[in-house]
Amino acid sequence: MKITIVGTGHVGSAIAFAATINPLAAELLLVNRNLAKAEGEAIDLANASALQNSNMRIRAGQIADSGGSDILIFTASVPYGSPTRKRTELAIENYAILQDWLPQLATVSPDAILIMVSNPVDALTYAAIKLTGYPPERVIGTGTLLDSVRYRALLSAELGIHPDDIRAYILGEHGDTQFAAHSLAMTGGERFYPSDMSAKLFRQTVSMGYDVSTLKGHTSYGIALATMSIVDSIVYDLKHTMPVSVLIDGFLEVRDVCLSLPAVIGRGGVTRVLRPKLSEEEQAAFQRSADAVRANISALT
Ligand code: LAC
Repeated sequence: MKITIVGTGHVGSAIAFAATINPLAAELLLVNRNLAKAEGEAIDLANASALQNSNMRIRAGQIADSGGSDILIFTASVPYGSPTRKRTELAIENYAILQDWLPQLATVSPDAILIMVSNPVDALTYAAIKLTGYPPERVIGTGTLLDSVRYRALLSAELGIHPDDIRAYILGEHGDTQFAAHSLAMTGGERFYPSDMSAKLFRQTVSMGYDVSTLKGHTSYGIALATMSIVDSIVYDLKHTMPVSVLIDGFLEVRDVCLSLPAVIGRGGVTRVLRPKLSEEEQAAFQRSADAVRANISALT
């Protein structure tokens, strides 16, 4: 198994550190525009790896070195500039980075599964399918996985139940139009009913990315472990269902756009996109989210 991380900023290097602690591959390659930064990270991580029970080879390299990767994790991005800058405002600049890198990456790793992390993740996941020519099941955006984890953690603290036992999905855009699919939610074996408390926790969830960025300048650890859980499910063919950004091909009359629905993730990538029965209000929210992502995509072309 060979994993390449593209972009070694805060997010890419946090993912690389997580991959060092939980070594799932024979080789971890770090690719970055500024190669020296990737080299420094690779040496530092190789030092850390010597303290692990692992013989994973960690190195920095160019796109050509990434050839034959099984998994590509794309995190390259321009800096946010300001913590309150919306993810969608990065679209045009980050699309230029994708245009530069993705076709070459796909040429040397024609069979890879691509995990898109860069924001705005939904529009860029869609762009990545076009730029790589990969079949859609091999392109996965981290989407609302992190938002769902955030919401579950907040509910967990409130309800005193482990986050794993709270089946609550945030779906739609990884952005301001995301919504909580409460009609599907279960806490333990009990049906979950929305309340003023859950409305407040949902608002906190939507703003949490901004809040963390305001406090520490960026977000990194949450998204890093969310990404690693996708990698885990691919490498071990776990078939976990995760809310991730995938190509929607006819759900509630939405097609040809990427946003999050629960999807089954295994060795081949997206093995199935689920079709949950949403309430009318949630259906409308999903369609609004699709419109928002579509508007973001059309700004790119
Ligand atoms: C966040 C970034 C990944 O929400 O968008 O932390």
